[in-house]
Amino acid sequence: MQILITGGAGFVGSNLARMALSQGHQVKVIDDLSTGYRDNLDGLDVDFVEGSINDRAQMDRAMAGVDSVVHLAALGSVPRSIENPIATHEANVDGTLSVLESARAHGVGHVLFSSSSSVYGLNPAMPKQEREWVRPMSPYAVSKLAAEQYVLAYGTAYGIDTLAFRFFNVYGPGQRAGHVYAAVIPVFIDALMKGEPLPINGDGSNSRDFTFVGTVCRVLLDAIERRVSNAEPVNLAFGTNTTLLELIDEIAEVSHQVPEKLHREPRAGDVAHSQANNDSLRSLFPDVEPVSLTEGLTATYEWFQQGRDAQE
Ligand SMILES: NC(=O)c1ccc[n+]([C@@H]2O[C@H](COP(=O)([O-])OP(=O)(O)OC[C@H]3O[C@@H](n4cnc5c(N)ncnc54)[C@H](O)[C@@H]3O)[C@@H](O)[C@H]2O)c1
Repeated sequence: MQILITGGAGFVGSNLARMALSQGHQVKVIDDLSTGYRDNLDGLDVDFVEGSINDRAQMDRAMAGVDSVVHLAALGSVPRSIENPIATHEANVDGTLSVLESARAHGVGHVLFSSSSSVYGLNPAMPKQEREWVRPMSPYAVSKLAAEQYVLAYGTAYGIDTLAFRFFNVYGPGQRAGHVYAAVIPVFIDALMKGEPLPINGDGSNSRDFTFVGTVCRVLLDAIERRVSNAEPVNLAFGTNTTLLELIDEIAEVSHQVPEKLHREPRAGDVAHSQANNDSLRSLFPDVEPVSLTEGLTATYEWFQQGRDAQE
């Protein structure tokens, strides 16, 4: 099948491109390289359009002839959105509308989307169920909620088969540290490898449902191959609940090192706890088995080590 991955030069997108090609699919990517890297796709036979999803001409070039779209392009990060809500809105909401309009114009009938667990925001219920009320705490979370609702509305209004996944904390090889909006696992591993203390926002009791990128890509590919759609958003996580302090213990085990910790102020917009109810995911994707945190952290740590070895 011909798959278009928007944001395919990013962390999840490049992992998905690699997996899709290995399964015999053809892959097109559109990415403006605002937060992604062209070299994430090195050695992969993808048809690459360097451009913004907000640019309809570029978007249409990328959309022509595809069977399914996996729409991942977005400006991620809660703190980035707090600093610049308009940029987040333009990329994540206007950009999504541009992708949907392009899909509609080209008669592309299957669109998958990456929403976020951040939409649950102030709702304290655990685990998070898709029909629970949502109350975003940041412009990023609002943008993801608006975009997922657009995606689902295009399903009902225009008969496109759509599936809006709510990703939780995705991690794995290819997720970089070294920038101000980096995610927690790369930040921790990077600090450990530099012999620096691991920076913890708050007391470390915040918890997350970490999902390995390989597991996320398996679900996405399964959805493409069986053309799965759903009228409601679907949590893409497996119901685990790991505090930051527990995560550090796991990283210590995997790396055979004893990390130092540095506590900092909690960050605005961060939800305290996050854990998915995955009944819906399980019923739509009964065959997908998640990679465990230990296995996933081992692969991630090895990827960081290879990067360091390559620099030496
Ligand atoms: N990684 C996570 O834990 C997580 C959690 C929840 C949701 N998500 C969502 O999953 C998707 C992928 O996340 P990721 O971690 O791979 O992020 P990423 O930043 O690595 O990838 C996003 C890609 O989109 C590209 N992009 C941004 N704006 C664009 C535009 N206007 N036009 C074209 N390309 C553009 C970037 O250059 C980048 O390559 C995002 O939509 C993100 O919001 C990720």
